[in-house]
Amino acid sequence: MKIGIDQISFYTSSYFLDMKVLARERQIDSKKYSVGIGQHQASVPAPGEDTVTLAANAAMPFVESDALANTDWLIFATETGIDQSKSAGVYVHDLLDLPPNYRIFECKQACYSSIAGLQIAMGLVERFPEKKVLLIASDIARYGIRTPGEVTQGCGAVALVISANPRMITMDKESGFFTQNTMDFWRPNYRREALVDGKASTRQYIHTLIESWKQYASISKNTFNDFSHYCYHLPFTKMAEKAHTHLTRFNGITPVPTGLVKIHIEDTLHYVRTVGNTYTAAIFIGLLSLLENSSKDLGNRKLGFFSYGSGCVGEFLSGTVEPGYEQMLTKQRHKAIIDNRSGLSYEDYEYFYHFAVPQDGGRHCFPKKYNTGKFRLAGIEKHKRIYEKV
Ligand code: CAA
Repeated sequence: MKIGIDQISFYTSSYFLDMKVLARERQIDSKKYSVGIGQHQASVPAPGEDTVTLAANAAMPFVESDALANTDWLIFATETGIDQSKSAGVYVHDLLDLPPNYRIFECKQACYSSIAGLQIAMGLVERFPEKKVLLIASDIARYGIRTPGEVTQGCGAVALVISANPRMITMDKESGFFTQNTMDFWRPNYRREALVDGKASTRQYIHTLIESWKQYASISKNTFNDFSHYCYHLPFTKMAEKAHTHLTRFNGITPVPTGLVKIHIEDTLHYVRTVGNTYTAAIFIGLLSLLENSSKDLGNRKLGFFSYGSGCVGEFLSGTVEPGYEQMLTKQRHKAIIDNRSGLSYEDYEYFYHFAVPQDGGRHCFPKKYNTGKFRLAGIEKHKRIYEKV
């Protein structure tokens, strides 16, 4: 039985910070950001916007199109949890008016957990082939102000319908995976900003890629040259380039032709350049970027996927694009979400950045004037978050 991704929908904040503005403020040559790291803009969440509202906005088109008929599981993957106990997915279920006979839980392992969610979802479909699973990955990538990680911030969410006989991507069963206890990126419960050993994290990403690939290659009939494209976890554009150069070299192609790296990954990078890191959502935003921007018909092409979650867990997977996948794309809607964002001044960026949900248990209402799509976090009272439809 074929199992995989039947539909994908993406959402990001209505505001972005241009990296030229950040470079000017930090007195850094803007080419370091645009060329060295490969980031041009980053989506910035507005006051009243969090992983719940981003997720609900990403999944809303499924509600409007009846794509969620036959779903009764919602798997929510995030690094940016809003509660130690309650799954953010329960709020999303409420905002989307999904039926009460639903099961919901949250997955965590940094940026990797959306792939854990995908594996679980595919296992559920294998058990109940007539059912579909709603998988949502939603995150806000946040580093300290004036730290090297600041340029790699971003936010966004993807919603996916996982089903039998999928109309977009059929996933293979074989995958290679690797775990090692590392402190390359982490976020203690009391912090809103991630802590990161940036250089070590990029080395660990590559090490984990190669170890995952080795296991994958030992059990799959697919070889490096069988894949037309590779979708990587995308903390920033340049990371995918570095990773793919290593994987190409590991597969005996030396010197590595830059043209080959470009063919394999360039179309996966259009959205991350302007949206920034979206942690769990990033690998699927890379996939969407490829499917929506490739000038070629990708039907029947094989794709490689590498997910990396610091700390660390990685997995290399593969899949095949279903012929006719173009009919499932909503490129104009996604393009409009990105193109219609408003640029922030540096001062507004700092205001958005420092806006925090108060922790005093009092009643607080959040400003209504910012665009947060169809949903907003209206306030908090007695430590209870209050969401509303806009
Ligand atoms: N023009 C062009 N290029 C320039 C330049 C200029 N004027 N100035 C510098 N550069 C280049 C550098 O040569 C360097 O290139 P290489 O990487 O090819 O050597 C590149 O710009 C970056 O410069 P630095 O080496 O000085 O890097 P930095 O100290 O500013 O930090 C970073 C870069 C480590 C990525 C940092 O942004 C960071 O810590 N980011 C967050 C962590 C992260 O994203 N890690 C990725 C792996 S972990 C993961 O994937 C999980 C996750 O989502 C977090």
